[in-house]
This record gives sequence, C-alpha cells and structure tokens, in this order.
Amino acid sequence: MKYDNFSPIVVVRDRKVAWDSPYPCLALDISEQAKRLETVQRIWDWFFEQGLTRRGLVMAVGGGVLTDMVGFACATYKRGVQYVNIPTTLLAMIDASSGGKTGINYRGLKNSIGAFYPPLETIIDTKWLQSLPTKEMLSGFGEMLKTGLLDRALWPDVLQYDLERMPIEDMKPLIERCVKVKEKIVQADPKEEGLRKVLNLGHTFGHAIEEISILSPKEARLFQYSVISHGYAVVYGLIAELYLSVVKLGCPKEPLQQLTQVMLQVYGKPKCKCSDREQLVALMQQDKKNERAAEINCTLLKDIGEPVINQVITRDEASEALDYLFSL
Ligand SMILES: NC(=O)c1ccc[n+]([C@@H]2O[C@H](COP(=O)([O-])OP(=O)(O)OC[C@H]3O[C@@H](n4cnc5c(N)ncnc54)[C@H](O)[C@@H]3O)[C@@H](O)[C@H]2O)c1
Repeated sequence: MKYDNFSPIVVVRDRKVAWDSPYPCLALDISEQAKRLETVQRIWDWFFEQGLTRRGLVMAVGGGVLTDMVGFACATYKRGVQYVNIPTTLLAMIDASSGGKTGINYRGLKNSIGAFYPPLETIIDTKWLQSLPTKEMLSGFGEMLKTGLLDRALWPDVLQYDLERMPIEDMKPLIERCVKVKEKIVQADPKEEGLRKVLNLGHTFGHAIEEISILSPKEARLFQYSVISHGYAVVYGLIAELYLSVVKLGCPKEPLQQLTQVMLQVYGKPKCKCSDREQLVALMQQDKKNERAAEINCTLLKDIGEPVINQVITRDEASEALDYLFSL
C-alpha cells in the first residue's frame, strides 16, 4: 500500500463527511468559529493519545477549515508530522488544500496564526461534492471565479459553467485547471514574497467582509447578519477590486460587468451596509498582508490574466469601491 512506510496512520475528519476509515479517526464539528486554538489543542491531545510520532501520517478529510487547522496541528506537533489532504469541499479542492498555507483564526483576525507547511499530497475526488450544500458549492465557485480572472483561457470556461444544470463530474477538468494555475504561482513563490500575492485578488475587501460577519459574533447579531461564507465574500471583494482596477489601472469594464451579473443572479447582494464602511476600511488596514501598518494593499488587474500586486489604495478609494459594491 502507498503509505506503508508510515506508522501509525491516523485520520482527522469533518463529522459531516461520511468515510469508513480503516484507521483511527477523530471526527470534529466544523465551522469557521471552530478554527481556533482550542480545537488545535484537541487535535494535538488526540495525536498524543494515538502515540503519533514523526514516522506517522495524518489524513485530513474535510473542507478548508479542517485542512488548514489539521495542517497547522501537524506543522507544530513534535516539530512536524506529515499529512495528506483529502479536500471535501469545492473551495478546499481548488484552493485551501494546496499551496502549503495552514493556520487558525486568532484575536478576531482570520488565519493570523499559522505556518507554511505543505501536505505530502492532496487527493482530489469530486464524489465528495455530491453531499455538499449549494451554498458551499457557490462558496467554492467564488474562488474559481477568482482563479479564472488570473488566466485568460480559463475565465470564459468558468463563466460558462452552470452550477445548477451541469453535472458535478463536468467540473473536474475546471478544478484541475484551477489547481494548476495556483500550483504554478505557488511553485514560483512558495512563501508569498511577491508573485503569490496575485492569489489575493478579491481578498483584501473579501476578508474584511467575511470578518465583519464571522469574527464579530456580537456585532453580527447586532446587525442581524448571517455569516457570509468565504467564497461569497471573495466575489464581493472581487467586485470592489475590479472597480478599483478599472478606475486606477484602466482595466476593461467587461470582467466587472460579467462578474456583477453573476453576483446578482447567483450570489445576491452582500449582507452588509454603507454604514459598515468605516469598520470595513479599518479591518482592511489591519490585514496581515499589508507591508506597512495602516496601509491598504491590494492585488488589482490590468486585464484578465494580468494581475498587479502591491497596489496601495487610500481610505477614500476603499470607501468609493465599497460604495460601488453597495450601490449594485
Ligand atoms: N490554506 C489556504 O490556502 C486557504 C485558501 C482559501 C481558503 N482557506 C480557508 O478555507 C476555509 C473555508 O473552507 P471551506 O469553504 O471548505 O469551509 P468549511 O471547511 O467550513 O466547509 C464548509 C461546510 O461544509 C461542510 N462540509 C465539508 N465537506 C462536506 C461534504 N463533502 N458534504 C457536506 N458537507 C461538507 C463543513 O462541515 C462546513 O459546514 C476558510 O477558513 C479559509 O480561510 C484556506
């Protein structure tokens, strides 16, 4: 068997994923709120109980929350134990389970504690997607739209994919192409020192929108938000950043118009308001991707497939882009 050299082999899986594992298995209740230190401690404790050593192997079976968290637990357990990612959401397949970023949310900030620690391998099988709720499919599709904007040949094919009507197996070639686009970028810049920042397209605004809904549960209740999933937030972030790409870099308006249409037809308008602008801008200023404190740093597009990293934007420009998004 492929993993014969490893002993013991253990599995950490999302409780919602059905898998009759031949190995000892820890099933966890997964949500973005569970992506925290206490859950990692639980995973470490279980590793100790299983007698896991650095000769062992961990299989991480679940969506991006689980693979990020298990990857981080593996990076830090006994200074590093190997793991295999088996992503079970579309988002984890095309994005979270490759590229080596692992981590947890801390002090209200997404992925603010973590490590670059790539898996031994990532095994993608679209069969997992059959049980995935539509909202989660759409969340993954948001990252697919982002990847499409980074590759001129991929963009029209992603835009044409009809989630409601086309069978899941037809998505396989698109997933493979998205993974290839990401892997090529990550290989050229594994530690995000430059080029890899192109993958952050849509994420400066997207993370702020996601944080305001997820990581401030008190405020979320106050404003009666429902949690905005990562991929939805990325779509909203892409619209704000495409708006800035048009205004600042002269990007053609077509991708912005195409994406706006997809947003209105499929995702709906963002569940935050103009009055949240100040807080969203403040969250963007705290983004760990910023090189200097209080600066807002974005990846923008000159055209489809032509991203430009390290675009510093002012508070006013950020507010203007949010106004555009909220006006749709
Ligand atoms: N490491 C990276 O490079 C990277 C990149 C992008 C996103 N991320 C992270 O990924 C996370 C989001 O990932 P996600 O969207 O997969 O979220 P998730 O892991 O929370 O999964 C979404 C929901 O689907 C459920 N689920 C998982 N697989 C299922 C299946 N096959 N059938 C039915 N239900 C299933 C989960 O229990 C959860 O309720 C975020 O925390 C984000 O920060 C990481």
